Amino acid sequence: MIFVKDVDYSENRIIKKYLQKLSNKHDWKKIISVVSKKVNKNLKSHDFNHIINVLNYSYKLSKFYKVDYDYLFLIIILHDLNVSIENLKNHNLVSAKEAKEFLYKLSFEKKLINKIVFSIKNHVRSYTFKHNYLNKLDIETKILCDSDRLDSLGSIGIIRMTEISIKQNIPYFISRNDKLNQSYYGNFKWLEKISNNFYLKESKKLSKDKSKIIKEFNKIFLKEFNN
Ligand SMILES: [Fe+2]
Ligand SMILES: [Fe+2]
Repeated sequence: MIFVKDVDYSENRIIKKYLQKLSNKHDWKKIISVVSKKVNKNLKSHDFNHIINVLNYSYKLSKFYKVDYDYLFLIIILHDLNVSIENLKNHNLVSAKEAKEFLYKLSFEKKLINKIVFSIKNHVRSYTFKHNYLNKLDIETKILCDSDRLDSLGSIGIIRMTEISIKQNIPYFISRNDKLNQSYYGNFKWLEKISNNFYLKESKKLSKDKSKIIKEFNKIFLKEFNN
């Protein structure tokens, strides 16, 4: 059996930056330690390294807006609290429920908990559009959604999507019309589709090179498989 050493994230560069912005109302180091152990370790694409990447993007985006850092930090570290290949479609709801229980135990204010729950549910865009919540999203939630999406692009995005595709046990390629969850190609094409779709204009700028990588990759993929 391989034992993975627990990482002390309080020494991480982006966490340190966030800690300077956070209030002194909570024991943040304890929260980070508990959450980093709780976040799924079976699905590498959604482990705490993903959270660190989302924190990095969100920190850059937060500079353009007036944000509540406590709230932004919490929705980011809790947004993928429980993700598995089985619950991928509704992991936002499962994670929101677990985040709610976690925050109640830590005696967070009910009003803030409800706000966090709503935000985590809406980090999946299909949920937002299904419920017509678009005009109810606050800036922190938009930053979460766009930062999360930025980590789906570029070479990291390709690696993350490859892991999901392996776990889905789907073919590499069926036809050029493949859809999401049908094949690796369908999954990568979906990444290309979402690569231009952001809530904030600053995210679009950040995504430029990463979107290009996906586009190029798909072009070569199609060439190699469709012969
Ligand atoms: Fe997610
Ligand atoms: Fe995520």
